[in-house]
Amino acid sequence: MADGAAITNDAFLRACRGLPVERVPVWFMRQAGRSLPEYRAIRGEGSMLESLARPEVATEITLQPVRRYGVDAAILYSDIVVPVHAIGFGVDIVPGVGPVVEQPFREARDLNRLRPLDPETDTGYVLETVRNLVAELDVPLIAFAGAPFTVASYLVEGGPSRSHALTKRLMHSDPGLWAALLDRLADLAIASIGSQLEAGAAAFQLFDSWAGALATDEYRRFVLPASQRVFAELRGRGVGASSGTEGRGRVGAQETAPGIHFGVGTGELLELLAKAGADVVGVDWRVHLDDARERLGPDVAVQGNLDPAAVLAPWPVVAERAVEVLDRNAGRPGHVFNLGHGVLPETDPEMLERLVDLVHGYQAAP
Ligand code: CP3
Repeated sequence: MADGAAITNDAFLRACRGLPVERVPVWFMRQAGRSLPEYRAIRGEGSMLESLARPEVATEITLQPVRRYGVDAAILYSDIVVPVHAIGFGVDIVPGVGPVVEQPFREARDLNRLRPLDPETDTGYVLETVRNLVAELDVPLIAFAGAPFTVASYLVEGGPSRSHALTKRLMHSDPGLWAALLDRLADLAIASIGSQLEAGAAAFQLFDSWAGALATDEYRRFVLPASQRVFAELRGRGVGASSGTEGRGRVGAQETAPGIHFGVGTGELLELLAKAGADVVGVDWRVHLDDARERLGPDVAVQGNLDPAAVLAPWPVVAERAVEVLDRNAGRPGHVFNLGHGVLPETDPEMLERLVDLVHGYQAAP
Protein backbone atom coordinates (compact mmCIF):
# COMPACT_ATOMS: atom_id res chain seq x y z
CA MET A 1 0.00 0.00 0.00
CA ALA A 2 1.21 3.49 -0.77
CA ASP A 3 2.52 5.71 2.01
CA GLY A 4 -0.08 7.40 4.15
CA ALA A 5 -2.91 5.15 3.11
CA ALA A 6 -4.94 3.35 5.70
CA ILE A 7 -8.04 1.41 4.91
CA THR A 8 -9.93 1.68 8.18
CA ASN A 9 -13.17 0.39 6.64
CA ASP A 10 -12.45 -3.00 5.11
CA ALA A 11 -16.03 -4.34 5.00
CA PHE A 12 -16.02 -4.31 1.19
CA LEU A 13 -12.80 -6.36 0.96
CA ARG A 14 -14.01 -8.79 3.60
CA ALA A 15 -17.30 -9.33 1.81
CA CYS A 16 -15.45 -9.88 -1.50
CA ARG A 17 -13.46 -12.58 0.29
CA GLY A 18 -16.58 -14.20 1.74
CA LEU A 19 -15.71 -13.22 5.31
CA PRO A 20 -18.27 -12.11 7.90
CA VAL A 21 -18.94 -8.36 8.17
CA GLU A 22 -20.62 -6.20 10.79
CA ARG A 23 -22.72 -4.44 8.18
CA VAL A 24 -23.29 -5.12 4.50
CA PRO A 25 -20.91 -3.00 2.40
CA VAL A 26 -22.32 -0.90 -0.42
CA TRP A 27 -21.08 1.10 -3.38
CA PHE A 28 -22.70 2.02 -6.70
CA MET A 29 -21.52 1.50 -10.23
CA ARG A 30 -21.38 5.00 -11.79
CA GLN A 31 -21.57 6.54 -8.34
CA ALA A 32 -19.43 9.34 -9.76
CA GLY A 33 -21.12 11.08 -12.63
CA ARG A 34 -24.00 13.02 -13.97
CA SER A 35 -26.46 12.35 -11.13
CA LEU A 36 -24.26 14.55 -8.91
CA PRO A 37 -24.51 18.36 -9.24
CA GLU A 38 -20.96 18.65 -7.95
CA TYR A 39 -19.84 16.40 -10.83
CA ARG A 40 -21.63 18.46 -13.43
CA ALA A 41 -20.03 21.58 -11.93
CA ILE A 42 -16.44 20.32 -12.10
CA ARG A 43 -16.80 18.28 -15.29
CA GLY A 44 -17.60 21.26 -17.54
CA GLU A 45 -18.23 20.94 -21.25
CA GLY A 46 -15.02 19.45 -22.63
CA SER A 47 -14.29 15.85 -23.55
CA MET A 48 -14.58 13.35 -20.72
CA LEU A 49 -11.23 11.91 -21.78
CA GLU A 50 -9.66 15.29 -21.10
CA SER A 51 -11.24 15.60 -17.67
CA LEU A 52 -10.03 12.18 -16.53
CA ALA A 53 -6.53 12.94 -17.78
CA ARG A 54 -6.25 15.72 -15.16
CA PRO A 55 -5.35 13.93 -11.93
CA GLU A 56 -6.57 16.69 -9.60
CA VAL A 57 -9.97 16.69 -11.35
CA ALA A 58 -10.23 12.90 -11.56
CA THR A 59 -9.26 12.60 -7.89
CA GLU A 60 -11.93 15.07 -6.82
CA ILE A 61 -14.63 13.41 -8.99
CA THR A 62 -13.78 10.00 -7.52
CA LEU A 63 -14.02 11.38 -3.98
CA GLN A 64 -17.34 13.22 -4.47
CA PRO A 65 -19.67 10.21 -4.02
CA VAL A 66 -17.54 8.77 -1.23
CA ARG A 67 -17.98 11.98 0.76
CA ARG A 68 -21.63 12.44 -0.06
CA TYR A 69 -22.86 8.88 0.38
CA GLY A 70 -20.43 7.25 2.80
CA VAL A 71 -20.07 4.24 0.50
CA ASP A 72 -17.67 1.45 1.45
CA ALA A 73 -15.57 1.62 -1.71
CA ALA A 74 -14.39 4.19 -4.23
CA ILE A 75 -14.16 3.49 -7.96
CA LEU A 76 -11.62 5.31 -10.04
CA TYR A 77 -13.06 8.00 -12.32
CA SER A 78 -11.87 6.76 -15.68
CA ASP A 79 -13.41 4.75 -18.52
CA ILE A 80 -13.10 1.35 -20.14
CA VAL A 81 -11.82 2.90 -23.38
CA VAL A 82 -8.90 4.73 -21.74
CA PRO A 83 -6.24 2.10 -22.59
CA VAL A 84 -7.23 1.88 -26.30
CA HIS A 85 -7.44 5.66 -26.44
CA ALA A 86 -4.03 5.96 -24.77
CA ILE A 87 -2.32 3.75 -27.35
CA GLY A 88 -3.79 5.85 -30.12
CA PHE A 89 -6.58 3.71 -31.52
CA GLY A 90 -8.67 6.83 -32.09
CA VAL A 91 -11.52 6.75 -29.59
CA ASP A 92 -13.54 9.57 -28.08
CA ILE A 93 -16.40 9.59 -25.58
CA VAL A 94 -19.33 11.60 -26.89
CA PRO A 95 -21.68 12.94 -24.21
CA GLY A 96 -25.03 11.16 -24.26
CA VAL A 97 -23.70 8.58 -26.73
CA GLY A 98 -20.65 6.84 -25.28
CA PRO A 99 -17.41 5.69 -26.89
CA VAL A 100 -17.08 6.40 -30.61
CA VAL A 101 -14.26 5.00 -32.75
CA GLU A 102 -12.98 6.94 -35.74
CA GLN A 103 -11.81 3.92 -37.73
CA PRO A 104 -13.39 0.71 -36.48
CA PHE A 105 -11.52 -2.57 -36.30
CA ARG A 106 -12.09 -4.45 -39.56
CA GLU A 107 -9.18 -6.65 -40.60
CA ALA A 108 -5.93 -8.28 -39.55
CA ARG A 109 -4.00 -5.11 -40.36
CA ASP A 110 -5.89 -3.33 -37.60
CA LEU A 111 -4.12 -5.52 -35.02
CA ASN A 112 -1.09 -3.29 -35.57
CA ARG A 113 -3.08 -0.41 -34.13
CA LEU A 114 -3.28 -2.30 -30.81
CA ARG A 115 0.24 -2.11 -29.46
CA PRO A 116 0.98 -3.07 -25.83
CA LEU A 117 0.20 -0.51 -23.13
CA ASP A 118 3.06 1.03 -21.19
CA PRO A 119 1.03 2.17 -18.17
CA GLU A 120 3.51 4.74 -16.81
CA THR A 121 4.09 6.57 -20.07
CA ASP A 122 0.72 6.03 -21.76
CA THR A 123 -1.55 6.46 -18.73
CA GLY A 124 0.65 8.16 -16.13
CA TYR A 125 -2.28 10.45 -15.28
CA VAL A 126 -4.37 7.43 -14.22
CA LEU A 127 -1.63 6.19 -11.93
CA GLU A 128 -1.12 9.65 -10.46
CA THR A 129 -4.87 9.77 -9.73
CA VAL A 130 -4.72 6.34 -8.08
CA ARG A 131 -1.80 7.40 -5.90
CA ASN A 132 -3.59 10.62 -4.89
CA LEU A 133 -6.68 8.66 -3.98
CA VAL A 134 -4.94 5.96 -2.00
CA ALA A 135 -3.31 8.66 0.10
CA GLU A 136 -6.72 10.20 0.86
CA LEU A 137 -9.15 7.32 1.16
CA ASP A 138 -10.04 5.25 4.20
CA VAL A 139 -12.06 2.86 2.03
CA PRO A 140 -10.65 0.58 -0.68
CA LEU A 141 -10.20 1.92 -4.20
CA ILE A 142 -11.52 -0.31 -6.99
CA ALA A 143 -9.40 -0.50 -10.13
CA PHE A 144 -11.12 -1.48 -13.35
CA ALA A 145 -10.86 -2.23 -17.02
CA GLY A 146 -13.21 -3.25 -19.79
CA ALA A 147 -13.30 -6.96 -20.53
CA PRO A 148 -11.96 -8.01 -23.94
CA PHE A 149 -15.41 -8.70 -25.42
CA THR A 150 -17.02 -5.41 -24.39
CA VAL A 151 -14.06 -3.31 -25.55
CA ALA A 152 -13.93 -5.32 -28.79
CA SER A 153 -17.59 -4.56 -29.39
CA TYR A 154 -16.86 -0.81 -29.31
CA LEU A 155 -13.82 -1.17 -31.56
CA VAL A 156 -15.64 -3.32 -34.12
CA GLU A 157 -19.02 -1.56 -34.10
CA GLY A 158 -17.43 1.89 -34.00
CA GLY A 159 -19.77 2.90 -31.17
CA PRO A 160 -22.61 1.65 -29.01
CA SER A 161 -24.70 -1.11 -30.56
CA ARG A 162 -27.85 -2.97 -29.63
CA SER A 163 -27.38 -6.08 -31.74
CA HIS A 164 -23.55 -6.32 -31.70
CA ALA A 165 -24.03 -7.69 -35.22
CA LEU A 166 -20.65 -6.65 -36.65
CA THR A 167 -18.89 -8.01 -33.58
CA LYS A 168 -20.62 -11.37 -33.90
CA ARG A 169 -19.97 -11.42 -37.62
CA LEU A 170 -16.24 -11.07 -37.04
CA MET A 171 -16.32 -13.65 -34.25
CA HIS A 172 -18.02 -16.25 -36.42
CA SER A 173 -16.46 -15.51 -39.79
CA ASP A 174 -12.83 -15.14 -38.70
CA PRO A 175 -12.32 -16.92 -35.36
CA GLY A 176 -8.53 -16.63 -35.68
CA LEU A 177 -8.57 -12.86 -36.06
CA TRP A 178 -11.20 -12.60 -33.32
CA ALA A 179 -9.01 -14.58 -30.92
CA ALA A 180 -6.02 -12.39 -31.78
CA LEU A 181 -8.09 -9.25 -31.14
CA LEU A 182 -9.32 -10.50 -27.76
CA ASP A 183 -5.81 -11.53 -26.88
CA ARG A 184 -4.53 -7.98 -27.44
CA LEU A 185 -7.40 -6.56 -25.43
CA ALA A 186 -6.75 -9.02 -22.60
CA ASP A 187 -3.14 -7.78 -22.53
CA LEU A 188 -4.38 -4.18 -22.26
CA ALA A 189 -6.74 -5.06 -19.39
CA ILE A 190 -4.00 -6.93 -17.54
CA ALA A 191 -1.49 -4.09 -17.97
CA SER A 192 -4.04 -1.45 -16.99
CA ILE A 193 -5.48 -3.16 -13.93
CA GLY A 194 -2.07 -4.48 -12.92
CA SER A 195 -0.65 -0.96 -12.89
CA GLN A 196 -3.61 0.43 -10.91
CA LEU A 197 -3.12 -2.31 -8.30
CA GLU A 198 0.57 -1.59 -8.13
CA ALA A 199 -0.26 2.08 -7.53
CA GLY A 200 -2.40 1.10 -4.55
CA ALA A 201 -5.90 0.06 -5.64
CA ALA A 202 -7.16 -2.75 -3.40
CA ALA A 203 -9.62 -4.63 -5.63
CA PHE A 204 -10.56 -4.67 -9.30
CA GLN A 205 -13.64 -5.04 -11.47
CA LEU A 206 -13.64 -6.36 -15.01
CA PHE A 207 -16.61 -4.83 -16.85
CA ASP A 208 -18.02 -7.16 -19.50
CA SER A 209 -21.10 -5.02 -19.74
CA TRP A 210 -22.36 -6.36 -23.07
CA ALA A 211 -21.48 -10.06 -22.66
CA GLY A 212 -25.20 -10.71 -22.16
CA ALA A 213 -25.55 -10.43 -25.93
CA LEU A 214 -23.91 -13.86 -26.25
CA ALA A 215 -25.26 -17.39 -25.98
CA THR A 216 -23.49 -19.55 -23.41
CA ASP A 217 -21.69 -21.63 -26.04
CA GLU A 218 -20.52 -18.48 -27.82
CA TYR A 219 -19.26 -17.03 -24.57
CA ARG A 220 -17.49 -20.25 -23.66
CA ARG A 221 -15.74 -20.57 -27.00
CA PHE A 222 -15.11 -16.99 -28.08
CA VAL A 223 -14.78 -14.96 -24.88
CA LEU A 224 -14.07 -17.07 -21.80
CA PRO A 225 -10.43 -17.90 -22.68
CA ALA A 226 -9.39 -14.24 -22.91
CA SER A 227 -11.25 -13.15 -19.75
CA GLN A 228 -9.95 -16.21 -17.93
CA ARG A 229 -6.42 -15.13 -18.76
CA VAL A 230 -7.08 -11.65 -17.33
CA PHE A 231 -8.14 -13.10 -13.97
CA ALA A 232 -5.38 -15.72 -13.99
CA GLU A 233 -2.64 -13.15 -14.58
CA LEU A 234 -4.01 -10.75 -11.98
CA ARG A 235 -4.47 -13.44 -9.35
CA GLY A 236 -2.07 -12.90 -6.52
CA ARG A 237 -1.41 -9.28 -7.42
CA GLY A 238 -2.24 -6.32 -5.27
CA VAL A 239 -0.84 -4.64 -2.28
CA GLY A 240 -3.11 -6.17 0.31
CA ALA A 241 -5.19 -4.60 3.01
CA SER A 242 -5.57 -4.85 6.74
CA SER A 243 -8.43 -7.30 6.64
CA GLY A 244 -7.19 -10.01 8.92
CA THR A 245 -5.64 -13.34 8.16
CA GLU A 246 -8.60 -15.60 7.46
CA GLY A 247 -8.68 -16.47 3.78
CA ARG A 248 -11.44 -18.01 1.73
CA GLY A 249 -9.34 -20.96 0.75
CA ARG A 250 -7.81 -19.50 -2.36
CA VAL A 251 -4.04 -19.33 -2.13
CA GLY A 252 -2.92 -15.96 -0.86
CA ALA A 253 -6.42 -14.54 -1.13
CA GLN A 254 -6.11 -12.60 2.09
CA GLU A 255 -3.25 -10.45 0.78
CA THR A 256 -4.29 -9.96 -2.77
CA ALA A 257 -6.81 -7.86 -4.61
CA PRO A 258 -10.17 -9.57 -5.07
CA GLY A 259 -11.57 -9.54 -8.61
CA ILE A 260 -15.19 -8.75 -9.53
CA HIS A 261 -16.67 -9.81 -12.87
CA PHE A 262 -19.76 -7.95 -14.06
CA GLY A 263 -22.07 -7.96 -17.05
CA VAL A 264 -25.63 -6.91 -17.89
CA GLY A 265 -28.20 -9.48 -19.03
CA THR A 266 -25.82 -12.23 -18.00
CA GLY A 267 -28.34 -14.42 -16.16
CA GLU A 268 -27.47 -17.34 -18.41
CA LEU A 269 -23.75 -16.68 -18.02
CA LEU A 270 -23.39 -16.40 -14.23
CA GLU A 271 -21.54 -19.67 -13.77
CA LEU A 272 -19.23 -18.82 -16.66
CA LEU A 273 -18.46 -15.37 -15.23
CA ALA A 274 -17.36 -17.15 -12.06
CA LYS A 275 -15.46 -19.78 -14.03
CA ALA A 276 -13.38 -17.02 -15.60
CA GLY A 277 -11.75 -16.74 -12.18
CA ALA A 278 -13.70 -14.05 -10.34
CA ASP A 279 -13.91 -13.87 -6.56
CA VAL A 280 -17.13 -11.87 -6.88
CA VAL A 281 -19.78 -12.05 -9.59
CA GLY A 282 -21.75 -8.88 -10.31
CA VAL A 283 -25.40 -9.79 -10.79
CA ASP A 284 -27.81 -7.59 -12.74
CA TRP A 285 -31.37 -6.93 -11.55
CA ARG A 286 -33.02 -9.57 -13.71
CA VAL A 287 -31.80 -12.44 -11.55
CA HIS A 288 -33.02 -12.94 -8.00
CA LEU A 289 -30.03 -12.81 -5.69
CA ASP A 290 -30.99 -16.06 -3.90
CA ASP A 291 -31.11 -17.84 -7.28
CA ALA A 292 -27.72 -16.39 -8.17
CA ARG A 293 -26.23 -17.57 -4.89
CA GLU A 294 -27.66 -21.03 -5.34
CA ARG A 295 -26.21 -21.31 -8.81
CA LEU A 296 -22.80 -19.94 -7.87
CA GLY A 297 -22.31 -21.82 -4.62
CA PRO A 298 -20.81 -20.65 -1.34
CA ASP A 299 -17.27 -20.05 -2.60
CA VAL A 300 -18.18 -17.14 -4.86
CA ALA A 301 -19.31 -13.80 -3.46
CA VAL A 302 -21.99 -11.74 -5.22
CA GLN A 303 -22.45 -8.05 -5.89
CA GLY A 304 -25.77 -6.39 -6.61
CA ASN A 305 -28.52 -6.06 -7.55
CA LEU A 306 -31.20 -3.41 -7.12
CA ASP A 307 -32.69 -2.26 -10.43
CA PRO A 308 -31.19 1.22 -11.13
CA ALA A 309 -34.59 2.31 -12.43
CA ALA A 310 -36.24 1.32 -9.13
CA VAL A 311 -34.23 4.08 -7.46
CA LEU A 312 -36.29 6.60 -9.45
CA ALA A 313 -39.44 5.61 -7.50
CA PRO A 314 -40.60 7.28 -4.25
CA TRP A 315 -38.53 6.35 -1.19
CA PRO A 316 -40.91 3.76 0.33
CA VAL A 317 -40.73 1.77 -2.91
CA VAL A 318 -36.95 2.10 -3.11
CA ALA A 319 -36.66 0.93 0.49
CA GLU A 320 -38.92 -2.05 -0.06
CA ARG A 321 -37.04 -3.15 -3.16
CA ALA A 322 -33.68 -2.75 -1.41
CA VAL A 323 -34.79 -4.80 1.57
CA GLU A 324 -36.01 -7.47 -0.82
CA VAL A 325 -32.49 -7.73 -2.27
CA LEU A 326 -30.97 -7.92 1.20
CA ASP A 327 -33.52 -10.49 2.38
CA ARG A 328 -32.78 -12.68 -0.62
CA ASN A 329 -29.15 -12.81 0.48
CA ALA A 330 -30.44 -13.60 3.96
CA GLY A 331 -27.33 -12.59 5.87
CA ARG A 332 -24.97 -14.95 4.07
CA PRO A 333 -21.37 -13.72 3.99
CA GLY A 334 -20.06 -12.64 0.62
CA HIS A 335 -22.56 -9.99 -0.44
CA VAL A 336 -21.64 -6.51 -1.64
CA PHE A 337 -24.73 -4.38 -2.13
CA ASN A 338 -24.86 -2.45 -5.40
CA LEU A 339 -27.26 -1.63 -8.18
CA GLY A 340 -27.73 -4.16 -10.97
CA HIS A 341 -26.08 -1.65 -13.37
CA GLY A 342 -24.89 1.94 -13.21
CA VAL A 343 -26.64 4.85 -11.50
CA LEU A 344 -28.95 6.55 -14.02
CA PRO A 345 -28.17 10.25 -14.62
CA GLU A 346 -31.70 11.27 -13.53
CA THR A 347 -31.26 9.64 -10.10
CA ASP A 348 -31.88 11.84 -7.06
CA PRO A 349 -28.65 11.71 -5.01
CA GLU A 350 -30.72 11.88 -1.82
CA MET A 351 -32.18 8.46 -2.65
CA LEU A 352 -28.70 6.96 -2.84
CA GLU A 353 -27.78 8.62 0.43
CA ARG A 354 -30.80 7.04 2.13
CA LEU A 355 -30.07 3.73 0.43
CA VAL A 356 -26.58 3.60 1.93
CA ASP A 357 -28.03 4.24 5.40
CA LEU A 358 -30.65 1.54 4.87
CA VAL A 359 -28.07 -1.05 3.79
CA HIS A 360 -25.77 -0.16 6.68
CA GLY A 361 -28.63 -0.44 9.17
CA TYR A 362 -29.92 -3.75 7.83
CA GLN A 363 -29.84 -6.84 10.01
CA ALA A 364 -30.87 -10.14 8.45
CA ALA A 365 -33.53 -12.08 10.29
CA PRO A 366 -31.84 -14.73 12.46
O1 CP3 B 1 -18.43 6.00 -11.01
C1 CP3 B 1 -17.95 5.10 -11.76
O2 CP3 B 1 -18.56 4.03 -12.00
C2 CP3 B 1 -16.54 5.24 -12.24
C3 CP3 B 1 -16.29 5.63 -13.53
C4 CP3 B 1 -16.71 4.87 -14.76
C5 CP3 B 1 -17.13 5.54 -15.93
N1 CP3 B 1 -17.27 4.63 -16.93
C6 CP3 B 1 -17.33 6.98 -16.01
C7 CP3 B 1 -18.15 7.54 -17.10
C8 CP3 B 1 -16.70 3.51 -15.07
C9 CP3 B 1 -16.38 2.33 -14.14
C10 CP3 B 1 -17.04 3.37 -16.45
C11 CP3 B 1 -17.07 2.09 -17.16
C12 CP3 B 1 -17.72 2.02 -18.47
N2 CP3 B 1 -17.63 2.88 -19.52
C13 CP3 B 1 -18.51 0.93 -18.88
C14 CP3 B 1 -18.80 -0.28 -18.04
C15 CP3 B 1 -19.85 0.02 -17.04
C16 CP3 B 1 -21.25 0.02 -17.59
O3 CP3 B 1 -21.91 1.05 -17.46
O4 CP3 B 1 -21.66 -1.02 -18.11
C17 CP3 B 1 -18.93 1.18 -20.19
C18 CP3 B 1 -19.82 0.29 -21.03
C19 CP3 B 1 -18.36 2.40 -20.59
C20 CP3 B 1 -18.49 3.12 -21.89
C21 CP3 B 1 -19.17 4.42 -21.69
N3 CP3 B 1 -18.54 5.58 -21.26
C22 CP3 B 1 -20.56 4.70 -21.79
C23 CP3 B 1 -21.62 3.74 -22.22
C24 CP3 B 1 -20.73 6.05 -21.40
C25 CP3 B 1 -22.01 6.81 -21.20
C26 CP3 B 1 -22.40 7.66 -22.33
C27 CP3 B 1 -23.41 8.70 -21.90
O5 CP3 B 1 -23.03 9.87 -21.89
O6 CP3 B 1 -24.54 8.33 -21.55
C28 CP3 B 1 -19.47 6.56 -21.08
C29 CP3 B 1 -19.20 7.92 -20.58
C30 CP3 B 1 -19.00 7.99 -19.11
N4 CP3 B 1 -18.17 7.15 -18.42
C31 CP3 B 1 -19.56 8.95 -18.22
C32 CP3 B 1 -19.01 8.68 -16.96
C33 CP3 B 1 -19.20 9.44 -15.67
C34 CP3 B 1 -20.49 10.10 -18.61
C35 CP3 B 1 -19.51 11.13 -19.08
C36 CP3 B 1 -19.89 12.53 -19.16
O7 CP3 B 1 -19.69 13.27 -18.18
O8 CP3 B 1 -20.27 12.95 -20.26
